[in-house]
Amino acid sequence: MRVPIEALDIAEKVVKEIEGRAADGGISLPFVAAMVANAPDGDHVEIGSLFGASAIAAALMKKELGHEGKVYCVDPYNAEERAKNVIIDPAQQHLLSGTPEALMANAEKFGVELTLIQKKSDPWPEELETNMFVTAYIDGAHGGEAPWRDFENLRGRVTNYIGADNYEEEYPAVVKAFHDAMDTIDWFLYYKNLSFIALRRVLPARTDPTAMFQLASL
Ligand SMILES: C[S@@+](CC[C@H](N)C(=O)[O-])C[C@H]1O[C@@H](n2cnc3c(N)ncnc32)[C@H](O)[C@@H]1O
Repeated sequence: MRVPIEALDIAEKVVKEIEGRAADGGISLPFVAAMVANAPDGDHVEIGSLFGASAIAAALMKKELGHEGKVYCVDPYNAEERAKNVIIDPAQQHLLSGTPEALMANAEKFGVELTLIQKKSDPWPEELETNMFVTAYIDGAHGGEAPWRDFENLRGRVTNYIGADNYEEEYPAVVKAFHDAMDTIDWFLYYKNLSFIALRRVLPARTDPTAMFQLASL
């Protein structure tokens, strides 16, 4: 994946200026923005938005490149449930959960528009039942079947790239889900750096006689 310089600049700006925090210090934000930059015009959807860092990075990248498309955020913002599942330094407790208000205030601060669906990602929200997206970013619930269910819900709705955060030792359910996902016939590994991973939708093989791009000499 090509990582344009604008993706690094956007990530730096978001980490510095966001109210609240970017998860994991924003380490995956350059790659989220780059994934969006490498896709064509179209909508982006994200699962798990917190204070909006990754959604805003995606929206700023689209704006910078003049790419058409909306950015959707799917997050239930259930603080009680989050407190049960996430361990955070007590001094940082106030930064554990985002809120819809904090998300929207950050969107306004950065001059971008986000559409929030305040629901869990599974079952897939009916508001987005028929939507298609060029890119998606999975960063919601990280345990059990959730990462795989998020992939399952997105695999037929995304045309180009599905990224995710926390493909790392501490999150075995994310690792297993993406390991299995890249072993499917419709998705394959596109990019991996630090804890970010992205898959690309598989094109027909060059040897497929029905493939549109098959070369005459083959
Ligand atoms: C790691 S944070 C997301 C960080 C964010 N992407 C960023 O760049 O700062 C995880 C978020 O996922 C949300 N979440 C938890 N369970 C979810 C679920 N089942 N569906 C969608 N979002 C969920 C939480 O409310 C929380 O805001």
